[in-house]
Amino acid sequence: MQIGTTLSQFIIEETRLYPEASGDFAALLNDLMVACKFIGSQVYRGALVGALGSADTGNVQGEVQKKLDVIANNAILKSMDWTGHLAGMVSEEEDGPYEIPAGIPRGKYLLLFDPLDGSSNIDVGISVGTIFSILKAPTAGENAKLEDFLQPGAQQVCAGYALYGSSNMLVYSTGFGVNGFTLLPEVGEYVLTHPQMRIPEDTSEYAINMSNHRHWEAPVRRYIDELNAGKEGPRERDFNMRWVGSMVADVHRILCRGGIFLYPFDTKDPKKPGKLRLLYEANPMGFLIEQAGGAASTGRERILDIQPEGLHQRVPVILGAKNEVERVTQYHQS
Ligand code: AHG
Ligand code: MN
Ligand code: MN
Ligand code: MN
Repeated sequence: MQIGTTLSQFIIEETRLYPEASGDFAALLNDLMVACKFIGSQVYRGALVGALGSADTGNVQGEVQKKLDVIANNAILKSMDWTGHLAGMVSEEEDGPYEIPAGIPRGKYLLLFDPLDGSSNIDVGISVGTIFSILKAPTAGENAKLEDFLQPGAQQVCAGYALYGSSNMLVYSTGFGVNGFTLLPEVGEYVLTHPQMRIPEDTSEYAINMSNHRHWEAPVRRYIDELNAGKEGPRERDFNMRWVGSMVADVHRILCRGGIFLYPFDTKDPKKPGKLRLLYEANPMGFLIEQAGGAASTGRERILDIQPEGLHQRVPVILGAKNEVERVTQYHQS
């Protein structure tokens, strides 16, 4: 049996596409990979290592943190802050930017991440993940300021996720398409298993939390109601529905077999125009979806064009099959 193309090999080979590459980016990704392997090891041991349940602490989102939220957050911060590749980090679980410890060189990249996505699924054994986004630091070599992180998603140099599902997978893009790797546990290497993942422009599968129906805006209600019309309704579009409750799992399914995912604007909480966070959920996932031939919109604008105003800013998210996202955005214009 051949081990195949490892992620380490793939990163090095892709680095050769950048003649001026110093190797810093390759090293950064490799360090991040170690953190994802560690987080996966804790997820798959779950109750055996006391990783389930609530940490009984709160975060800036107003959520009660799970133990694995905290474990994963610390794993990434401590796997990355010594490397000298970063000028700062932003995490769902940190109020403000995380400062690189004194004495460590400030690098030329910014790392933004959701250390554990799908926390509500941890204790019930459903797939969770880690989402990451990498930006260039405007002033390499210095501490990143908060505003340095407020770059539109189109500026990302890399985006990806680890999925702790039926296997530990790492899926990422640096702008040359989307490639997926599966962890070979006995060797400890991610191996290329899903080269150049693509999303069909059409689909017959949608993902949305239907319990929010009464809180949606009219265009989204129209789009979803057409898919659920009764016998008398137009059923020329006979869709199936899936909703995992972990964005990583729903997006991974769409990258594997197509679909459309919606976490739209809802009036449940007027302070929150949507549930998903722009910097470390919507932007990285939007980057991947576009790289795979799909589209990512708020319903009114391309997600990657949004000028962020806050580290934990929330936006409506409609992403996946290009023609379906286009249909929903048209409904917002009519
Ligand atoms: P997180 O666990 O990082 O806070 O994110 C959870 C998000 C996202 O993963 C998922 O799509 C969405 O919350 C599910 O929201 P509902 O529980 O409202 O369906
Ligand atoms: Mn999340
Ligand atoms: Mn999270
Ligand atoms: Mn959370």
